[in-house]
Amino acid sequence: MKAGVTAHPRYVISDIDPRLYGSFIEHLGRAVYTGIYEPGHPTADTNGMRQDVIDLVKELNVPIVRYPGGNFVSAYNWEDGVGPKQERPVRLDLAWHTSESNQVGLHEFADWCASANTEMMLAVNLGSRGLDEARNFLEYANHPGGSEWSDKRIANGRAEPFDVKLWCLGNEMDGPWQIGHKTADEYGRLAHETAKAMRAFDTSLELVVCGSSNAKMPTYPEWEATVLDHTYNEVDYISLHMYFDNHANDAPNYLAMSEKLDAYIVSVSGVIDYIKAKKRSTKQVYISFDEWNVWYHSKEQDKKILEGNDGWPFAPPLLEDIYNFEDVLQVGLILNTFIRRSNIVKIACLAQLVNVIAPIMTVPNGPAWRQTIFYPYLYASIYGRGNALDLKVESPTYTSDVAGDVAYVDFTGVHDTETGHVTFFAVNRHASEAIDTVIDLTGFGSATVIDHQIMTHADLKAVNSAENPANVGPSKGTDTVVAGGKLSLSLPAYSYQMIRLKL
Ligand code: AHR
Repeated sequence: MKAGVTAHPRYVISDIDPRLYGSFIEHLGRAVYTGIYEPGHPTADTNGMRQDVIDLVKELNVPIVRYPGGNFVSAYNWEDGVGPKQERPVRLDLAWHTSESNQVGLHEFADWCASANTEMMLAVNLGSRGLDEARNFLEYANHPGGSEWSDKRIANGRAEPFDVKLWCLGNEMDGPWQIGHKTADEYGRLAHETAKAMRAFDTSLELVVCGSSNAKMPTYPEWEATVLDHTYNEVDYISLHMYFDNHANDAPNYLAMSEKLDAYIVSVSGVIDYIKAKKRSTKQVYISFDEWNVWYHSKEQDKKILEGNDGWPFAPPLLEDIYNFEDVLQVGLILNTFIRRSNIVKIACLAQLVNVIAPIMTVPNGPAWRQTIFYPYLYASIYGRGNALDLKVESPTYTSDVAGDVAYVDFTGVHDTETGHVTFFAVNRHASEAIDTVIDLTGFGSATVIDHQIMTHADLKAVNSAENPANVGPSKGTDTVVAGGKLSLSLPAYSYQMIRLKL
């Protein structure tokens, strides 16, 4: 089989916002406790944060981390997580049926972000609470001093404001599972008034309003239209979430699901345009795809805790999906979709970062290790910054149940005009055939290959583990060259590739 790609520096989709490669840490399972925070661990720093995890997060160059939830935030009292640790209350977390010790809160997380070279994206609780707690939280976090809440922050040891610019107005408020679930009108009004109050404090904040929890929600896409009708002038982004599963154990359909993601983005983009026109607005609202990942491997084992049959444990293993090679392809396809839609999707958060549906896993008092999906996320985050190229891709297709005709070859390109690098990310969805692909680069002039990483495996279900952390990983491609303005390469069956060129 053969495929063809044409790339030209003048054909650009958009400048990619680096926050397209964000992630997420929720007070859920072992994401925080024994994930990022484990006093007594051999690598723990003076704040009790695991340095081995910080090193892996730095390797991923994560630009933003959403915090503290997720479903958790909808019954969270942010005040519980500040002040002397010994005075912080233990609370029952109603979202995940566990106990929360509050030993990590805003201050500890902010220090961790500084150590991990990342920025906070904070969420306010619009489930069990509302406008007043949100504005107090904002004043505590961002006001320099001289007011009740900012002085409390100073008294708690932090003189300088945290200066958090990006705020989520609640989480998945369309979901009946959410504590304080609301109708679109109820939430739209509350989000509008909360955004108005937050903007009264600081007009330069970036605010994210909740869209649909997934495209199967009965309220989608009416939810987006109603919520944006209430909030269009006050918010900057509408949040979308989507999780992928292969319960059916059907790889061709599983790997076609990124086309559904694409359709979801296009539909919501249309709703944004509709409300923009309705309001006669010149302002553009963008999409914050602030939860996405594969999530299904752990569903069965989590039932006992989530149904409350284990009482209220502290930081039990929850949502600990162990990812396989097939998921590498899926994550590569999802990231490619975001790159292609980077004109409207400005922020995206891999959910989550450590232990909970995560690329990084930890063993309490033991090592941290990289899951299979660590690698496509790593390459996109490190090299997927610059201009998303508007490629012409010609590929044979197959017919899927979930999304109709789907190209075997999924290809994106990013041109970093500052460094003069072009990076291609490619997935071959074909189960058994290599696809010979020629990339026409004549528009770029001369180019040389400086890196080529390939991920492929004989077993789609192969995983990494603490004992065998390198079972699934990249290997270096060596025989890729540019000749006569064309890059020729063979994409092995079921493979992910990253190819970097220096112009
Ligand atoms: O990321 C896990 C959970 O998925 C989040 O808490 C919630 O927002 C979503 O349903």
